[in-house]
Amino acid sequence: MLNVPGHRKLRKIVVLNPKGGSGKTTLAINLAGYLAAGKRRVALMDCDPQGSATRWLARRPENFPGIHGIVAYATSTGATRSWQLRVPQDIRYLVIDTPAAIPAQQLVDFTRGAHAILVPVLPSNIDVHAVSRLVADLLLTAKVSRRMGRLGVIANRVRENTLAYKKLMSFLDCLAIPVVGILRDSQNYVHSADEGLSIHEMRPSRVTKDLARWQPLVGWLEQKLETSLTARDLHHPILQPVAGSIVPFHHIRTDN
Ligand SMILES: Nc1ncnc2c1ncn2[C@@H]1O[C@H](COP(=O)(O)OP(=O)(O)OP(=O)(O)O)[C@@H](O)[C@H]1O
Ligand SMILES: [Mg+2]
Repeated sequence: MLNVPGHRKLRKIVVLNPKGGSGKTTLAINLAGYLAAGKRRVALMDCDPQGSATRWLARRPENFPGIHGIVAYATSTGATRSWQLRVPQDIRYLVIDTPAAIPAQQLVDFTRGAHAILVPVLPSNIDVHAVSRLVADLLLTAKVSRRMGRLGVIANRVRENTLAYKKLMSFLDCLAIPVVGILRDSQNYVHSADEGLSIHEMRPSRVTKDLARWQPLVGWLEQKLETSLTARDLHHPILQPVAGSIVPFHHIRTDN
């Protein structure tokens, strides 16, 4: 179980999607970079044994704002682990990168106490299928109510005017899940990550189109970060097994 020893002033942003390669790490490092570029004290917690976020941090040039790294996938246990997961008191924002293939039951651990839960999804049939399952699990197992509005889907690697993109958007529209961001398929994400940077820290003229796409996303995010957590956000639900198939959306209660 992931037990993040946080503190009261900490705002937690969780990036998750059990589907591999949907853009979780890319989104997490760019969120951390966005916050750091705004002179905010931010930590990036890497929960994925692949260690991609940790390697990105290791590449980060010294003359850019620091991001505190927390390696959460290390195998140590007990007191050592609690200490490793400790979030320093001066940190105000925690971005959590999660691994692929996390079981539905673990969604509870990852999402508890989150100010924002961001789900990147690619415009492909396979990914759309996977995200429908994830949203069902989030609503049922982790009791993340849509009404709370802390859950936001991000369409990632989008090429506009493609059929795949149009299908993705109409599907997400059917789910009534807010699409809080649409990010371009852009090599700028690849190049900036290679340099240990986010696109927010690249030469603006090079990333103008990408930065424009971040505006609605950060607008949504800032609002969530300012909205205090309620008892519902911190709940400890009684876990119930979720059926192994997709739950039809008209069967999902959203009023809990
Ligand atoms: N918007 C984008 N434009 C171009 N390339 C992207 C974009 N988002 C992600 N990528 C690339 O897609 C690949 C997968 O992205 P990423 O590693 O962020 O996914 P992930 O969900 O973290 O994967 P995993 O499930 O393995 O942890 C990477 O090579 C990344 O550079
Ligand atoms: Mg990853």
